[in-house]
Amino acid sequence: MVRTSRIPGFYKRSLEERIRLVAEWAGLDDADIAALRESLALAQADKMIENVVGRHALPLGLGLNFIINGQDVVVPMAVEEPSVVAAVSNAARIARAGGGFLTGSTEPIMVGQIQVLEVPDPRAAMAALEGAREMLLRRVDEIHPSLVRRGGGARDIRARFLSHTPAGPMLVVHLYLDVRDAMGANLVNTAVEGIAPEVERLTGGRVNLRILSNYTTERRAWAVVRIPADAFSEKGAQGIQVARGIVEANAFAWADPYRAATHNKGIMNGIDAVAIATGNDWRAIEAAAHAWAARDGQYRALTEWYMMGDTLVGKLELPLAVGIVGGATKVHPTARVALKILGVHRAQELAEIMVAVGLAQNLAALRALASEGIQRGHMRMHARQVAIAAGAVDDEIDVVAAQLAEEGNVRESRAREILRRIRGMSGD
Ligand code: MEV
Repeated sequence: MVRTSRIPGFYKRSLEERIRLVAEWAGLDDADIAALRESLALAQADKMIENVVGRHALPLGLGLNFIINGQDVVVPMAVEEPSVVAAVSNAARIARAGGGFLTGSTEPIMVGQIQVLEVPDPRAAMAALEGAREMLLRRVDEIHPSLVRRGGGARDIRARFLSHTPAGPMLVVHLYLDVRDAMGANLVNTAVEGIAPEVERLTGGRVNLRILSNYTTERRAWAVVRIPADAFSEKGAQGIQVARGIVEANAFAWADPYRAATHNKGIMNGIDAVAIATGNDWRAIEAAAHAWAARDGQYRALTEWYMMGDTLVGKLELPLAVGIVGGATKVHPTARVALKILGVHRAQELAEIMVAVGLAQNLAALRALASEGIQRGHMRMHARQVAIAAGAVDDEIDVVAAQLAEEGNVRESRAREILRRIRGMSGD
C-alpha cells in the first residue's frame, strides 16, 4: 500500500470512516481510538491543574497532503476556528507540485537566565564567570545526569551587562542547556536555581530571578517551499499573477506592523493548532515567535516569499521550543495519539513539522487574500457549521451548506427551511 497523506474527499467521509482511516494510517490501537473519542478523563484532568471542575474540549482535525523532507505526513490540529484545517490542507496539496516542504532545525538548546544586581565590579564578575565556566557547566550536568545520558546537557555560560535599567545596572547570566526531546522549562529552571548560589559567590552580587527565557533564539526550526507558479492557476486565474500577489502581500507584512500582526496570526493558526494537539505550551511558542518577528526593532512578517523565475519560494524560520516527552505530551491521551499520528521520535522533528504547517497556513491565507479574498472560503466553512447547527447530519450537511453559500444567505433559519425541504423530498 502506498503511504500517502493525500486522501481526496476525506472531509466527505463520515466521522467513523475518518477515524478508521487514520487508525490504519498510524497503526492506532483500541486505546488510541478510545482516546480520540473520549480524550481526557475527568480524573486525569483533576491531576493536571488545580481547582478542576471539568474539561474544555476542542475539535481535533487532520491537516492532509503534507510532504515534508520527502515523507508524507498527516498533521493532527486542535483548533476552534473553521477553515484553518481545510486551508492548510489545500496549501499543502498545492505545495506537492514542487515536492512539498524541506525543513531543518538547530540543536534543542534552551536559555536560562540569572539576574544579578548590586555587582560591585561587573568587569571582574564577568571574568570570574568566564574562568569558572567549566566548573559551572559540570555542576549543571551533575544536576541533570539522565539528560546527559540522553545526549543533552550544559553547553555554555555567558554573561551580559545591562547598564541602564529602571532598577539600575545588572548582570544577566545565560545558561545554554541542550534539553533534547523535552520542551525543557523544568530542566532549565532547576539548573539555573541550582547554580545561582555559585553565580552569586563568583560575582559578589545579589541574585534575583532564575528562570528560562521563552525567547529561544538558539532553538530554531525552518521550512522552505518551492512551488511552480502554474500550480496556482485556477478558474481562469493566472498562476503567475497569484504568485506575484503572494510576494506583494508578504512585502506589505514586512513593512507594516498592522498587517504583520494579522499575517503572523495566520501562521500561528497552524503552529498553535499542532502545539495544542500535541500537548505543547502554545503561549511559550507565541511569545518566542512575536519576539523574533521584532528582532530588528520593527515587528515584521515571519515569512519570506519571493519569485525565482516562474517559481514561488517561501521560507519560515522561528524559535520553536516543543517537546515530545514530559508534561502534557505524555499525560494527555489525545496528545499521545497525536504524536503517534505524526510518527515523530524527536522533538526537533515535531518542531520542523510545525514550521512547515505554519508556512503552509500562511500560503493558504495569502493565496486566498491575493485572489478570491478570504470570505468565500470562510463562508463555505461557516455554512457547514450553520447547517450542522440547524440539525443537518451526514450528507445533508454538504447539500444544505452548498445551497446556503450559493444563496449568500448563511442563516440558521434558512438552513432549517432547506433541511425541511430536502427531508420532505426524501420522504423522511
Ligand atoms: C485568520 O484567522 C487569519 C488570516 O487573517 C491571516 C492573514 O490575513 O494572513 C486569514
